[in-house]
Amino acid sequence: MKSKYILKKYHIFLYMLFLLFQIGCDGKATEQQKIDTVVSEIKIGLTVYRRDDTFIAMIVSDMEEAVKEAEQKNNIKIVMNTMDAKGSQIVQNDHIDKLIEQGCDVLCVNLVDRTVAATVIDKAKAADIPVVFFNREPVKEDLERWNKVYYVGADASESGKLEGQIVVEQYNKNNNIDKNRDGKLQYVVLEGEQGHQDALLRTEYAVKTITEAGIQMDKLAGDTANWLRSQAETKMNQWLQIYDDEIELVLCNNDDMALGAIDAYENIDKTLPAIVGIDGIAPAIEAMQQGKLLGTVKNDAEMQSELIFELSYRLAMKEDISKSMNLVRGKYIFTRYTILKPNNDILNEQ
Ligand code: GAL
Ligand code: CA
Repeated sequence: MKSKYILKKYHIFLYMLFLLFQIGCDGKATEQQKIDTVVSEIKIGLTVYRRDDTFIAMIVSDMEEAVKEAEQKNNIKIVMNTMDAKGSQIVQNDHIDKLIEQGCDVLCVNLVDRTVAATVIDKAKAADIPVVFFNREPVKEDLERWNKVYYVGADASESGKLEGQIVVEQYNKNNNIDKNRDGKLQYVVLEGEQGHQDALLRTEYAVKTITEAGIQMDKLAGDTANWLRSQAETKMNQWLQIYDDEIELVLCNNDDMALGAIDAYENIDKTLPAIVGIDGIAPAIEAMQQGKLLGTVKNDAEMQSELIFELSYRLAMKEDISKSMNLVRGKYIFTRYTILKPNNDILNEQ
């Protein structure tokens, strides 16, 4: 009886020893697993609608900087493959397939045609690769197709309002804009690409802000120049032949087109009317300091790239970004626009 009892105790002792050994092994295994799962390389796939677009070129080079900084800071290899769709959605779709095949951890997409986001989202979803859209905003319904889809950009209506404010302030300060003194502003609009949120809303809100301030507007002409300096110059040449001195204000959806308008006036040595732009690119700031551009609105490329990169990096690292990033409605990040005028505070900071 006693020997049976001792034997049982002995078995319990052995079993406990076995358990202790097991716990020890499990602990070690977890540590080992942790080491194995430390990420040493991530791949970011970046595709842009046109790399020669001035503002987009700024975003790409700022992203490249962000990659270098993060590599050093986090001791990690970051491969960023940048593709230029050169204005073709077909080419961009093909690039998306390639980036997925290459095993990218995240896709950063500046759509050519912002109405076809669904195609891109479905491809990414099938491969379970999160997508960060930027600058060309897909419609809400498309962004809602999947929970791993995000958008980084800026509120287009805000830039229109601020552009309008530049005109209102100048009009109220010294009404030299209304050259023929008829109490109305005769204006032309150089628009960005048709269907782009920044073209439609910037024009709408700039005009609204000016008229709501009690200034009457008289539209002479408006047309798209696709964000481009050269196309804007051509358009402006045509309008100058028709309207000549009647034009008192040139509202431009971006700075490159404002610079194109200035080129047209300078080519024929004509006095410049009030010209306003948006983006805050270096040559526009220079034109403003020379008194050729009334003002511009800074579209914060640096901040946008930082945010696109940070979001992409965290997604690639499989972080729970709902905790680490400040997302609007779980999907959006918007940067603020700011007015830039000659000698204002922001300019002095630069
Ligand atoms: C706008 C920018 C334009 C052009 C466009 C491209 O936000 O102001 O200059 O770059 O994006 O989508
Ligand atoms: Ca007038």
